[in-house]
Amino acid sequence: MSQINKIGVIGAGNMGSGIAQKIAQEGLNVVVVDIKDEYVQSGLGIIEQLLGEGVERKIFTPEQVKDVLSRISGTTDFNAVADADLVIEAVFEDKQVKSDLFKKLDQLCAEKTILATNTSSFFVGEFARLTSRPDRFIGLHYFYHPAKNRLLEVIPHEGTSRETVEKSLLAAKLHGKTSIVVKDAPGFAVNRFFVPFLNEATRMLEEKIANIPTIEQAAKRAFKIGMGPFELMNVTGIPIAVHASTTLGNELGPFYATADILKAQMKKNENWDLAGTVDESKIAAVMDRFYGVCLGVAASLVDEGVASIEDTDRGAKIGLRWVMGPFEIMNKIGVERTFTAVEAITQRSPILAPRSVSSMEATPSSTREAATPRQTP
Ligand SMILES: NC(=O)c1ccc[n+]([C@@H]2O[C@H](COP(=O)([O-])OP(=O)(O)OC[C@H]3O[C@@H](n4cnc5c(N)ncnc54)[C@H](O)[C@@H]3O)[C@@H](O)[C@H]2O)c1
Repeated sequence: MSQINKIGVIGAGNMGSGIAQKIAQEGLNVVVVDIKDEYVQSGLGIIEQLLGEGVERKIFTPEQVKDVLSRISGTTDFNAVADADLVIEAVFEDKQVKSDLFKKLDQLCAEKTILATNTSSFFVGEFARLTSRPDRFIGLHYFYHPAKNRLLEVIPHEGTSRETVEKSLLAAKLHGKTSIVVKDAPGFAVNRFFVPFLNEATRMLEEKIANIPTIEQAAKRAFKIGMGPFELMNVTGIPIAVHASTTLGNELGPFYATADILKAQMKKNENWDLAGTVDESKIAAVMDRFYGVCLGVAASLVDEGVASIEDTDRGAKIGLRWVMGPFEIMNKIGVERTFTAVEAITQRSPILAPRSVSSMEATPSSTREAATPRQTP
């Protein structure tokens, strides 16, 4: 199998600059391309700043930073990636922009070049089919911040060749990523349950189940996380949550659709107000709503063959920094609580009826193992 010697990254924004930084940190050469020189310089500036912070925190020496920077070049000339082994697209999340770009890259790049998209919300296959090389086309979905978050969802579409998958996994390994292979499905694996987690938090607020501090506290206890969903949205941007849930809702139905209160908050252009008092008497009920949604969705995606149980758990732990993955949580809280929590959600939305969780109930309790839903083909 041929090696990965040169990688191109298109787009020097938040993701593109971070992806390039990580590739160079791990010893590979990378070329970053953007449409204007000022955008290229801004991306390179962000990389330099982050590496500089790494020196202050004694993660890197100044010599190492010099070395890393020497492996990154930035340009507006797309020909610079023509001979790359892999080109990773990280431009605006706009179908037309990405489509035009892939047609251009397809014309420009060598036979050997694998084209990859970092799209969050479009099907990988849609872009692959615009090119003459669908077999050498794949999704590589990074997580913010790509120089720090180790998770990479590797997403072959129907026509991706086995060699391309293997080469992409090798490229991932070479730049320090932990890969999970995921089907080309809406939200891929991690966002499929993470976005509903955010959305459900706002739904509970809308339904006046509890106030924001109580929902935050329940989420932290349920998933052993440092930041609850509202604080997370304040940090990462409410529009991203709205955009992601809108896409999932369009593809997968109303269960995933954006809560009205979330849309309204985006319109107000204000962060969530986190102030207030936690109501302990409501914590358990809120935790169960979170469990019902997240565990139910995780079981659904495994049922559909989007990802394996192990990879879904790894995705949550590495990508979201949950202490346990959804299936490990099911094992911990037990069959009864999982089943009851998921069933309460499926009664609200029949679209979400994971067979693996229903099958737990069908099993006589004396012979039931802890929650280990079977994976259906
Ligand atoms: N931000 C996240 O947390 C996140 C996570 C995973 C995936 N993504 C995906 O990564 C992609 C990039 O997101 P971002 O947050 O870095 O966006 P961004 O707006 O920060 O950066 C996009 C960059 O692409 C450049 N660009 C636009 N059109 C171009 C073209 N035709 N050729 C070359 N460069 C072009 C822009 O000038 C800009 O610098 C999107 O598809 C997004 O959905 C984002």
